[in-house]
Amino acid sequence: MITIKSEREIELMRESGALVARVLDLLQTEIAVGMTTKQLDVMAEEYIRDHQAVPSFLNYVPKSDPGVTPYPATLCVSINEEVVHGVPSTKRVIREGDIVSVDCGVYKGGYHGDAARTFVLGVIDEKVQLLVDATSESLARGISMAVAGNRLHDISSAIEDYARSFGFSVIENMVGHGIGSELHEDPAVPNYGRKNTGVKLREGMTLAIEPMIALGRSRRAVSRRGGWVAVTEDGKPSAHFEHTIVVRSGQAEILTGTFL
Ligand code: MF3
Ligand code: CO
Repeated sequence: MITIKSEREIELMRESGALVARVLDLLQTEIAVGMTTKQLDVMAEEYIRDHQAVPSFLNYVPKSDPGVTPYPATLCVSINEEVVHGVPSTKRVIREGDIVSVDCGVYKGGYHGDAARTFVLGVIDEKVQLLVDATSESLARGISMAVAGNRLHDISSAIEDYARSFGFSVIENMVGHGIGSELHEDPAVPNYGRKNTGVKLREGMTLAIEPMIALGRSRRAVSRRGGWVAVTEDGKPSAHFEHTIVVRSGQAEILTGTFL
């Protein structure tokens, strides 16, 4: 069931979203070669708890897979071929040339905010830089379609068409989602699809739109039994950007900051 949020609820989601944006801004200034992914996680958790909020992902168990180990961290930090759900670790050091996707969710005032950015460390391969830039722009294009009266897959197809125009591959088995008092609500928001299909978008729907785009040919992110991290099948790098937005009649409102 897709819920329409009231202006009061959207006001609360604006607060959660703004906090997520500030966490990612903080990490963007602090991230450096030689740090561990656990250091980023500690920084994020402290900042969130200092602002009367709790991390959305910590102890999260997917409703679709209740047997899985609860997610053990505040952030997902996914490096290079890791698409999503990289678990922060004291053993994982960030290196020159890495692309580091950081995903953060916060729960505050009864509502979640969820956003991700891929950071580039030092000098990286030109093609990989293009991947990162194109993934960010694909999100912008998806968001531009999140307007009342359009259909859900207008968002999806805008993302897919842009990514494919570079020959990049869309990860199809991971999707965006509705968001609100639950981290994952209806509808699923795929990053591929046919325009003019899917449910009609209505003002007050809140969506987390999150393209995951890869170099190479992998269309799936796969994880090992029992593990959280999901990687490309061919080991090629993958980028991830996400914003929580509200569908509006003119232009979608982004709740988790701006494009930098
Ligand atoms: N942004 C991701 C998502 O919406 C992060 C979820 S991580 C988890 O699925 F730990 F909560 F699963
Ligand atoms: Co999400």
